[in-house]
Amino acid sequence: MEPFRFHLFVCTQQKPEGATSCPASGSFAVLDALDREIQARGLGNDAQLTTCGCMGLCDEGPVMVVYPAGVWYRRVQASDVSEIVATHLRNGKPVDRLIWNDAPAMKAMAVEHGEKFRAAMAVRDKAGTLPDRLEQTIRGYMPSRCILTALELDIFTAVGEGANAEQIGARIHANARAVGMLLNALVSLGLLAKSGDNYENTPESARFFVQGSKDNHRNGLLHTANIWHRWSTLTDAVCRGTHIPIDRDHTPEWTHSFIAGMQRNAKDRAPHVVKALGATGVRRILDLGGGSGAYSIAFAKACPEVRCEILDVPEVVPLAAEYVGKAGASAQVSLRAGDMLHDDFGSGYDLIMLNAICHMFSEEENRNIFCRAHQALAPNGRLAVQDFILNPDKTGPQHAALFSLNMLVSTDGGASYSEPEYTGWMKDAGFTDVCRINLPGPSGLIVGRAK
Ligand SMILES: C[S@@+](CC[C@H](N)C(=O)[O-])C[C@H]1O[C@@H](n2cnc3c(N)ncnc32)[C@H](O)[C@@H]1O
Ligand code: FES
Repeated sequence: MEPFRFHLFVCTQQKPEGATSCPASGSFAVLDALDREIQARGLGNDAQLTTCGCMGLCDEGPVMVVYPAGVWYRRVQASDVSEIVATHLRNGKPVDRLIWNDAPAMKAMAVEHGEKFRAAMAVRDKAGTLPDRLEQTIRGYMPSRCILTALELDIFTAVGEGANAEQIGARIHANARAVGMLLNALVSLGLLAKSGDNYENTPESARFFVQGSKDNHRNGLLHTANIWHRWSTLTDAVCRGTHIPIDRDHTPEWTHSFIAGMQRNAKDRAPHVVKALGATGVRRILDLGGGSGAYSIAFAKACPEVRCEILDVPEVVPLAAEYVGKAGASAQVSLRAGDMLHDDFGSGYDLIMLNAICHMFSEEENRNIFCRAHQALAPNGRLAVQDFILNPDKTGPQHAALFSLNMLVSTDGGASYSEPEYTGWMKDAGFTDVCRINLPGPSGLIVGRAK
């Protein structure tokens, strides 16, 4: 069976730093170039591009194989890709200069590699060496912290069109020696390029981390940097059973980054939520803890008759007003400062949204919100909870399980909750037709209808 005209396998087996491997000799650049070239030449439906693990031919990498003919290419570089696509995939003629068809030599190399690999693993196992996978996870904070510090110091903006460590240090008022060390680490992470003493942004860092770029994520990512400090309290929080307040929380700057962080997540999710919930029969929406207003804005844009009301804490309302104003949605989206745990919600809503809200609160608080939301809905109105929803045994998905700890270090009684918990609380509050709607990405929806 051949579902595709061509099936390309590119080896992307990651190995410890310093070891010979296809990624170390450029296979990811080959993969990217193949993907772009295949699409550009309109071959997306004919050629299936797949990554694969080590084939034991690492010294000759990057290695790729094109089926159904089983053509093996070695030492492929991104610069070879246009020829491979034009000659092989379009005209059916493999690129001779890259072909490796010495089957006995290839087999001997792969067998020898396999034997060496198994012997090395046996030695490590006997010595009780921690597996690389665990080492990497445990040290995972190092690259993360490095990038977060670079964002906090706005290093990528300071690099600008290119500068040396002294110039960058002067621009951010930091020590030149230490800045040089940070810059070198950022080069090792692929986020800067270095030539002589000069550092430059990569296309990716220039696009995502530099002030003035339309896709700059720095403001929202500063919230992740703030949360890093909370995660440092995890050990104490686990012992105490709740969060440990830290000084840097809830300053005006903190709130500004928090809402920018919420906007960063919500702006991509909001259209999916609007599509999943549908605007048919929806005229009045209450957006509890609406944050940047991304979900209300998305509903307003999808449906001119819809009117949304965002209820959020007083310090967030002016920030939300700015986002709503910039989106040109002020005529449809109004704002109310208040406390959703205690304030009256009003009545007659067709839809009440709890986007990324329930994880902040305890079971008791969520049950209370669900009951009051039920009373505030018009007949047939819906309550929609969007959150990271755990499996019944709460051990996954991983994102939701880890996020539960995010709420342990951030709130009095918050957590990630499971689908049976959400559906149970909704039914107990009087909702019917309670169902789950999966969304693209890590969050899901639980929706119930008021009688
Ligand atoms: C995690 S954010 C989610 C924001 C928005 N729904 C979204 O998904 O982008 C939680 C929001 O709830 C607001 N909030 C927290 N406690 C609140 C309370 N007691 N009453 C009203 N809003 C609250 C926060 O200010 C923040 O905007
Ligand atoms: S890493 Fe690609 S063949 Fe070994």
